[in-house]
Parts: sequence; C-alpha cells; structure tokens
Amino acid sequence: MKQQISLDINGRVYDLVISHRDLLVDVLRKKLGLTGTKKGCGNGDCAACTVQVDGEPTLSCLTLAISCQGKKIITVEGLAQPGGALHPIQEAFVNQGAIQCGYCTPGMVMSAKALLDKNPKPTLEEIKLAISGNLCRCTGYKRIIEAIEIAAATMSAQEVK
Ligand code: FES
Ligand code: FES
Repeated sequence: MKQQISLDINGRVYDLVISHRDLLVDVLRKKLGLTGTKKGCGNGDCAACTVQVDGEPTLSCLTLAISCQGKKIITVEGLAQPGGALHPIQEAFVNQGAIQCGYCTPGMVMSAKALLDKNPKPTLEEIKLAISGNLCRCTGYKRIIEAIEIAAATMSAQEVK
C-alpha cells in the first residue's frame, strides 16, 4: 500500500509517496539520494546505517520510514557546518586516521554525535559504550575512540553542536 508522507530530514521537509513497508535506510539512499548513510548488514548487526531520530541514534535498516513522520531525522549529510566545512567529529576522524575503507564511518560519526549532544564530556567508557554496536573491520577502534575524545574537547571549546 502506498502512502503520502512528509519527512523532516536535516532541517528540510520532503514530501514522498512510499510503501508502508519501506525502510528508512532505503528511502534515504534510493528515493532521496542521501547515500552518506550506509547499508551494511541490513539486519541490525553493524550500525553502519545509524542516523539520529529525535536525537536518538537509530538503526535506519530496522526503522520503517513511515514511523518517522513528525520526527526530526539527521543524517551524516546534515552535519556540515556553515560554508560546508566538516563537522568537528568528522574532522577529528580524518586527522586521527580513524577512517580506512570508510564504510562504517558515517554510522560511527552519527553514534558519536548522539553521544556528544547529550554528554559533551564523556568518559572513555562512555565513548566505548556509545559505539559498542558499531562494527569496524579495519581500524581496530583505537583511533576512532581517540577521534571522539578529540572531537569532544574541540566541540566543548568551540561550543559547536
Ligand atoms: S545496516 Fe543497519 S545495522 Fe547493519
Ligand atoms: S574503516 Fe573500514 S569498516 Fe571501519
């Protein structure tokens, strides 16, 4: 069954006709071209598909798009700063060498963003917990954790959201 819905994504409202079974990850990637959000396992096991829905880190491969009506969705494309500069979390990932193949990176960045939005000065354990569902096959996690620690310090100093 097709239905017309509106989704608020990165501060812009999109009017769409979708099936009630369409997953958020597929709507983002295939209907809207927001391919920053990655689809890895498609089963809730890797968190490559993480976006924020009303501030909460959310697996878009397990979320029906229709359930997101009236909510605020943020994808990795929505992190760009005025003028298009990278968000401090993205910058820290680049500077720390926390990216190799990059497939996990948008999900990692969105999990980190959800953490730092609520807890600007997390402990090491809190950082590890926040990304505990995000799988990375390349980096060994150490540089990712360091990048989030640096991003937290930068964001607190610059008062960046
Ligand atoms: S693609 Fe969603 S958890 Fe793996
Ligand atoms: S950088 Fe390749 S999976 Fe994480």
